[in-house]
Amino acid sequence: MSDAASETIYLKDYTEPHHWVRDVHLTFRLAPKATRVLSRITFVPNAENGGDLILNGEELTLITATVDGAIVPMEVSDTHLRIKSADLPQKPFTFEAEVEIAPEDNTALEGLYMSNGMYCTQCEAEGFRKITYYPDRPDVMATFTVRVEGDYPVLLSNGNPVASGDGWAEWHDPWPKPAYLFALVAGDLVNHAGSFTTKSGKDVELNIYVRRGDEDKCAFGMQALKDAMAWDEKTYGREYDLDIFNIVAVDDFNMGAMENKGLNVFNSSCVLASQATSTDANFERIEGIIAHEYFHNWTGNRITCRDWFQLCLKEGLTVYRDQMFSGDMRSHPVKRIEEVLTLRARQFREDNGPLAHPVRPESFVEINNFYTATVYEKGAEIIGMLRRLVGDEAYRKGCDLYFERHDGQAVTIEDWLKAFEDATGRDLSHFAQWYSQAGTPRLTMSEEWTDGTLTLSFAQSTPPTPGQDEKNPQVIPIAVGLIGPNGDEVLPTTVLEMTEAEQSFTFEGLGARPVASVLRDFSAPVILQRDMDAATRAFLLAHDTDPFQKWEMGRMLSKDTLIDMITSGGTPAADYLDALKTVLSDESLDPAFRALALGLPSQDDLAQTLFDAGQTPDPQKIYEAREALRRALARHMSDILPTLFRQHETPQFKPDADGSGKRALRLSVLSLLTLLDDGEAARTLFAAADNMTEQEGSLQALLTAGLGSDELQAFEKQWKEDRLVMDKWFMMQVAFAAPDTAAATAEALTRHPAFTMKNPNRFRAVFGALTSNHAGFHHDSGAAYDLLSKNLISLDKLNPQTTARMSAAFETWRRYDSARQAKIHAQLDRMLATDGLSRDTTEMVTRILGG
Ligand code: PHE
Ligand code: ZN
Repeated sequence: MSDAASETIYLKDYTEPHHWVRDVHLTFRLAPKATRVLSRITFVPNAENGGDLILNGEELTLITATVDGAIVPMEVSDTHLRIKSADLPQKPFTFEAEVEIAPEDNTALEGLYMSNGMYCTQCEAEGFRKITYYPDRPDVMATFTVRVEGDYPVLLSNGNPVASGDGWAEWHDPWPKPAYLFALVAGDLVNHAGSFTTKSGKDVELNIYVRRGDEDKCAFGMQALKDAMAWDEKTYGREYDLDIFNIVAVDDFNMGAMENKGLNVFNSSCVLASQATSTDANFERIEGIIAHEYFHNWTGNRITCRDWFQLCLKEGLTVYRDQMFSGDMRSHPVKRIEEVLTLRARQFREDNGPLAHPVRPESFVEINNFYTATVYEKGAEIIGMLRRLVGDEAYRKGCDLYFERHDGQAVTIEDWLKAFEDATGRDLSHFAQWYSQAGTPRLTMSEEWTDGTLTLSFAQSTPPTPGQDEKNPQVIPIAVGLIGPNGDEVLPTTVLEMTEAEQSFTFEGLGARPVASVLRDFSAPVILQRDMDAATRAFLLAHDTDPFQKWEMGRMLSKDTLIDMITSGGTPAADYLDALKTVLSDESLDPAFRALALGLPSQDDLAQTLFDAGQTPDPQKIYEAREALRRALARHMSDILPTLFRQHETPQFKPDADGSGKRALRLSVLSLLTLLDDGEAARTLFAAADNMTEQEGSLQALLTAGLGSDELQAFEKQWKEDRLVMDKWFMMQVAFAAPDTAAATAEALTRHPAFTMKNPNRFRAVFGALTSNHAGFHHDSGAAYDLLSKNLISLDKLNPQTTARMSAAFETWRRYDSARQAKIHAQLDRMLATDGLSRDTTEMVTRILGG
């Protein structure tokens, strides 16, 4: 790796390019080992700054390059092609080049690569430079015309089809776009077709292209796409803008999916769906991701990012949009609880460790390392806070102005906020700090009651994060409601706007002292610290009108119980067990909500909580306490579990909110029941299940209880030909293994004939499962640490991007005892000492070590 390749890039150094691009013509002559890429690019000198023509290019073999048809002097390095200003016309000119690349050897899955015989591209963030020489930066937007030549029935690129013949096809995309949105697909694929008529009456052809044999798994995704198109018209006034919208499923993919203009490429796990092979969680995720990529057409494509520091401009906003869509399609309360669960599990974890960074980072070495929970999930929370602060109507006005003002541009967070300032007359300069200040704010609350007046006093502070020791107060919207002693709401949800380090809010004229319900709907991504006894929590669990807070109270009761069991060997209080039982049997509550209420805090969450309280978490103890609590819950509810299990049968499978809610409750109940009946109910369900949700759920219940080896074998026999279901098979046995067998199980699976390092889904199935098995990963033998780093080192040679992301499993190492810390440290050192370790992984490991 050359030195130039591992430089740190800073936001403050942004300058415009020396040349803009007007249009691009590309011709691809496809061949696995020697694809030729011909480019013809019209450059326009940037009057602002003039200068050399600087093109990115990596792993390319240059055949020829000319300027206005003539050979000119040029410097070609591992990373760039450069032509001196003196050798260029000072007016628009045409640059032409021919390069050769080898898609078949591309295991990094970035640029043009092959997967099961099909050609596929992935250009975000900086993959286009592995296809041809180009100013590969998002502020350079151009129209693309693409000719694909190859002996394949399906030849696709962005935009509208122009012409085609035997072995070739031409595409033209009229909308100027940055190179990261370029895509090409070629192969022997089949399509599931559909159509959509936009609100102004334009007919759009829709297609989902898949491998032969997967045709029957496209209907759900197609419906989700149509729903997303209709939703964006209704909710944001955004219409689709091409004659055709194509989605392609590919098995080998580093991420979930990619929003290439008019040609979205999906990890097959994020689009293929069927009752027999997909769980309810899969259906929900597929619906959300299809919508997410579609929504990027406006938030990301029509309006894009000026530079990669602005990534949250498109990602935070688009996540927020897909969250609202999913809430409208299913249930807002359930969706919000799920969002908070992932936010805490992934973003809070990141924000409270060595990888913490602002939603808009100020520097990076490898941009691929910044597709993080912070940029995506916290980025979405910021949009939600903004909307809460300005109100629904003003939010829509601000969005409209943003779309109108910046259509066709590459912009910044400042532009986004300015549209809201102009639309609402509000000063957002303090609010803007959410983008630049890293770390999760701690919000402490105390209360005072005198003569009918309730005073809520808040104090906020944010712990230091890497590179940011000093923190300032943030603007925090705190949604509050008051519940009277008889359980009636006396103040409906009201948003308090906190802007200072300490601030008090009073509520006057109250008859009797109410209980405050604070941070309703999780109105800000903060950690609320508030003294509250179990009785008050139980009161809110019973009476709060805000579903999120209702859930939160049950959650906190569970957490307090578990922390007490872990630290002082306590046993769960009868009141707590009763309160949970009441929720579980309350038929007025949505089954999905009841299932969520029964879910206990994860082991990782408990470890972080203990660490925050100044203690050293012991993973084995955490595991044992959690299992003990599950047994106590099972015993305490033994009389209602069988009935609940029977009641929530869903004879007709439908992957909608209602059906999936019932199955979620049924399976949480089954997981407890399995601790009482030696697995009888789970075995019966496993044998009878006609859908993957129940087949997988019953098998998980068995595995968690240390049973299920016959079922595991039967599962493999039934599904060995289905790669996505086999990922579940690999995942489950590691994720639900007992702590002392997890590493050995994972190790054995790496020797299974169906294991491969080249497929990210399969690698993640085994190693993502290992790192999610908290007590197994942190088992004091250190075997899992050793196994993970060994396999990451091997994977790094093939696929740096996935290696770097997975190395984040070590980010929590400072929480643990010195023996575990030393073991992890040794593994991180071992990785860093590896010859030729990628820039991606080097940056991650260095940051995790805190260097
Ligand atoms: N832009 C994609 C999304 O969130 C994510 C992605 C990033 C995919 C980089 C591939 C590579 O929708
Ligand atoms: Zn996205």
